[in-house]
Amino acid sequence: MTDLTKTESWEALQKHFSSFEKTTIKDLFKQDDKRGTRFVAKEAGIYFDYSKHRVSGETMKLLFALAEERGLEAHRESMFTGNKINNTENRSVLHTALRAPKGSAILADGHNVVPEIHAVLDKMGVFARKVRNGEWTGYTGKPVKNIVNIGIGGSDLGPVMAYEALKYYAARNLTFRFVSNVDGNDFAEAVSDLDPEETLFIISSKTFTTLETMANAQAARAWSLKKLGSNAAVARHFVAVSTNEKEVVKFGIDPLNIFGFWDWVGGRYSMTSAIGLSTMIAVGPDQYQQMLDGFHQMDEHFRTTPLDRNIPVIMGLLGIWYNNFFGAQTQAVLPYDNYLKRFPAYLQQLTMESNGKQVTSEGEPVSYQTGTIYWGEPGTNGQHSFYQLIHQGTKLIPCDFIGFKETLNDLPSQQDYLIANMIAQGEALAFGKTADEVRAGNVAEELVPHKVFEGNRPSSTFFLDKLTPANLGKLVAMYEHSVFVQGVIWDINPFDQMGVELGKVLAQNIIPELQNKSQPLNHDSSTNTLIGFYRQ
Ligand code: F6P
Repeated sequence: MTDLTKTESWEALQKHFSSFEKTTIKDLFKQDDKRGTRFVAKEAGIYFDYSKHRVSGETMKLLFALAEERGLEAHRESMFTGNKINNTENRSVLHTALRAPKGSAILADGHNVVPEIHAVLDKMGVFARKVRNGEWTGYTGKPVKNIVNIGIGGSDLGPVMAYEALKYYAARNLTFRFVSNVDGNDFAEAVSDLDPEETLFIISSKTFTTLETMANAQAARAWSLKKLGSNAAVARHFVAVSTNEKEVVKFGIDPLNIFGFWDWVGGRYSMTSAIGLSTMIAVGPDQYQQMLDGFHQMDEHFRTTPLDRNIPVIMGLLGIWYNNFFGAQTQAVLPYDNYLKRFPAYLQQLTMESNGKQVTSEGEPVSYQTGTIYWGEPGTNGQHSFYQLIHQGTKLIPCDFIGFKETLNDLPSQQDYLIANMIAQGEALAFGKTADEVRAGNVAEELVPHKVFEGNRPSSTFFLDKLTPANLGKLVAMYEHSVFVQGVIWDINPFDQMGVELGKVLAQNIIPELQNKSQPLNHDSSTNTLIGFYRQ
């Protein structure tokens, strides 16, 4: 692919940027009093207002031209039709097939994957119903009441985020816990008040070799068997979600209790694979299906809607505009719904493990910035901690506000306070408060500069009806596809994660050095000293 910075549309954007850079959001609203309704996409049940961005119609036109020049539409089709776009691992990328309706045909290596996806979904459904209605009993005959998902990265962040997001819809007679960290304290606290006789572990690991997950799975097995005695208990208290049947069986899990998936599902794209088993048990198969339908609706929107109304395309391109032209390093995600408290953490893996890349798909060093840093917290909590820096700091931080018109719990006045705050933050960021406006409030002159808000700080607002399983699915798919859009523009492979390997390998070297104090150390002087400190 042509170097991004040498493309015609990039050069056009650069030229445009130098004349446009100083235009403020206030100017843009003055120039066009319909901007607040024109820079809006209403698609797939999402109201997406991107009017408070530092873009004109011309900017958007040039960004869409960039997407076209980089072949976004053809790349998108390649993903949806199972081409091996994960070139470094020679794999298709078919998470979108996981939510395709029964009866559709999607080929990977010439083979329709949809029937096997639905076979796993049906198997999950049977199991989830048994757990939910108390039919799935433990080794001593007691119904399972506690479900502990053990996994890390994509085998944890999706399940825990979805459980928290959909807690309102979850079976309240069941307890859900999520263990990810190799720090034994995570496991110890998760099970401290649980009874092994009533506890089911879901060992979620695509590879079934991940150090953290295997260590926690062994701890869970020892904890269970301490009370239950016999190895035969493992079959009633452990199920696995994995692509590695051989290792699962070695662990002692009944092959009948393996929920499989495929190598064309990346870890951070796996929450709609069998990795979603804990979510399905929590909300039930019907509501889980509604979540999948929401994902599918967004997949279809992304696949078929023209670029200029396509929400993930617009989001992805705005990200490029700030990252590569304004030099913004980070992007805040600020859900105004407490159920979405783990959504920013989920997005961190999705966005940064995908697009934190330093070479192009062909292995050439990139000559431009990639991977924006994503972070955030639910509003209004963030307002009382880090929003100060977003409003008056020296850094440009585009923000995504996510809100719902209806609240799930009946406290309507608090819902008004919540949404008023979300809307007010976008307004304050964009338009600020001038020195004259501050003075009009009779402020002592020496305090005026401290109270000025320069504004011109961009944000998107996503408004949905309410936090349903389907709407959660739409939101996740929307970010998945915006990550894809950016990967195409930057010509990087968003579907491998080789940058996580080195640290894992070095840790394997250090483990025996910690355990055997006489082993000589041949690291650098800092690493040697740290190991020495621990050994003492
Ligand atoms: O650390 C990287 C990673 O491979 C993630 O991409 C993945 O989600 C996580 O580890 C867990 O992997 P597994 O499901 O194979 O245990």
